[in-house]
Amino acid sequence: ERLKYIRNFSIIAHVDHGKSTLADRLIEFTGAIEKREMKEQLLDTLDIERERGITIKLQAVRLKYKDYILHLIDTPGHVDFGYEVSRSLAACEGALLLIDATQGIEAQTIATFWQALNLNLEIIPVINKVDLPSADVERIKRQIADVLGLDPEGAILASGKAGIGIKEILDAIVERIPPPKGDEDKPLKALIFDSYYDPYRGAVAFVRVIDGKVSVGTRIKLFSTGKEFEVTEVGAQTPKMEKLEELRAGDVGYIAAAIKDVRDIRVGDTITDAKKPADEPIEGFRPAKPMVYAGLYPTGNTTFEDLRDALEKYSINDAAITYEVESSPALGLGFRCGFLGLLHLEIVQERLEREYGVELITTAPNVIYKVITKKGEEIEIRNPSELPDPTKIDKILEPYIEASIITPSEYVGAIMQLVQEKRGIQKSFEYLDQKTVLLRYEIPMGEVLFDFHDKLKTATRGYASFDYEFVGYKEGDLVKMDILINDEPVDALSFIVHKDKAYRIGRNIVDKMKEVIPRQLFEVKIQAAIGSKVIASSKVPALRRDVLAKCYGGDITRKKKLLEKQKEGKKRMKQFGKVELPQEAFLSILKAD
Ligand code: GTP
Repeated sequence: ERLKYIRNFSIIAHVDHGKSTLADRLIEFTGAIEKREMKEQLLDTLDIERERGITIKLQAVRLKYKDYILHLIDTPGHVDFGYEVSRSLAACEGALLLIDATQGIEAQTIATFWQALNLNLEIIPVINKVDLPSADVERIKRQIADVLGLDPEGAILASGKAGIGIKEILDAIVERIPPPKGDEDKPLKALIFDSYYDPYRGAVAFVRVIDGKVSVGTRIKLFSTGKEFEVTEVGAQTPKMEKLEELRAGDVGYIAAAIKDVRDIRVGDTITDAKKPADEPIEGFRPAKPMVYAGLYPTGNTTFEDLRDALEKYSINDAAITYEVESSPALGLGFRCGFLGLLHLEIVQERLEREYGVELITTAPNVIYKVITKKGEEIEIRNPSELPDPTKIDKILEPYIEASIITPSEYVGAIMQLVQEKRGIQKSFEYLDQKTVLLRYEIPMGEVLFDFHDKLKTATRGYASFDYEFVGYKEGDLVKMDILINDEPVDALSFIVHKDKAYRIGRNIVDKMKEVIPRQLFEVKIQAAIGSKVIASSKVPALRRDVLAKCYGGDITRKKKLLEKQKEGKKRMKQFGKVELPQEAFLSILKAD
């Protein structure tokens, strides 16, 4: 039977444990691609991904090995994309669990491992980078047994770089991962695990066909929206986009149907046959929900219209971003944008600037708060300036995450202190081996936005790994803090903070702002206030008019430098009344804790 010769798998790995290198090797070994073409056709295609060394876009590659067809489904390697990872895993029957032999198991790997186990995937542990002298295979084997509860004897020793263990991995995929199940005579059911926008094909869906079949001309229907389209092309990445006659139960590939908007192809949704629809969708669909909001405002030579165009074009390829027009008395017209997490925000901001050439001011990001009013209404707060008058508020709820941190034991003290500052509550403490500890905390998500990652890195010299999961809303003793510039509140600088921390953070912010706001021809007063009560203030003294005159006749290069510096500073400034605020002023809120 046909299905016997298909295997669908993905690779679970922590960032930098060698997933891309190994994937390239598997592609090369199975001869899907010439070595010469290799460079141009790495799994990660976007520049930004390569530069940052992280994988964001999921893709699926079809490999031929012996008599088998193997589908390697890529998973994004960052905490913000947990849901996308779960859908990619749902498209597989098995996974390689890659562990760097010099590092050991990391938080993200464990979280993904649990997801895979819940989906009943066959897990093949692979101990990678065994070519390195510092590889400690015995330690990793003990971790595989103790932490994951898997048989370490089943682990494959490998090096993607040196080409060790590649054949063993391919054989294990064939022998240990079960073939897909499915019935091609049943109505079509295909799970969407990724999408992208292609200028020629329109929005393209990457799918795993569970039941039925699909080919050119099939009228398809999306379960969540009921929208219908006619299929124009089906195929598989080999790794180039190769057309196929049809995709059948058990297959992994892509479907194009002249769909104009990627938003119509939602990860986790089910595609069925409009003429002969399946009764039920595939379980587990969840519409993408932004967790973090920030304002994006045009600056420099960029107009509001430029920014709108850029966002429209950008969002063609990113179904997860949301944006709506927002007007700020301080910043003018801009957009309030929703992101999956902080990394997602950074990527969007960077791509808008780099690929669409817009100049932006980004306001400090915030999580979504919920307010219960005294009248009993529930309001979602996506922008701190929307917070109702305190006298009308019964309570404010904030989102919580469960964070897992894996660290060498010597840093436990430093982490505990950091988490305490972030209002975290310890849930568990577990030794993974003699030197490694797994800590679980419940922490307000808003606190993690404020500098948590960097502080964790500093506290543990980069040795700790971190993963999180959203767990729900809880009441918090929260207040809105306003920042006043020369006695005027700047709405775009308002934020929500815990009462106990308000004084310290207010103090830090006015001090930071004093450093980043350039001196102007008049004095600038900066104040932090809760309601009408000013809790901290500072001043940027007026510029002395003769600053340039002073170096006149003297050092001409120094004068040039000064002028250039001024020009440079202009780029990302926003005029507020008479005062110019640089981008750093908006982000100093993030660094104030
Ligand atoms: P993300 O795409 O960020 O998830 O990283 P990745 O897991 O795909 O890691 P990648 O393959 O990019 O490798 C990370 C680093 O480890 C690179 O510098 C590789 O050259 C190196 N590396 C990968 N595999 C091996 C290996 O088997 N041995 C050695 N010595 N180095 C390796």
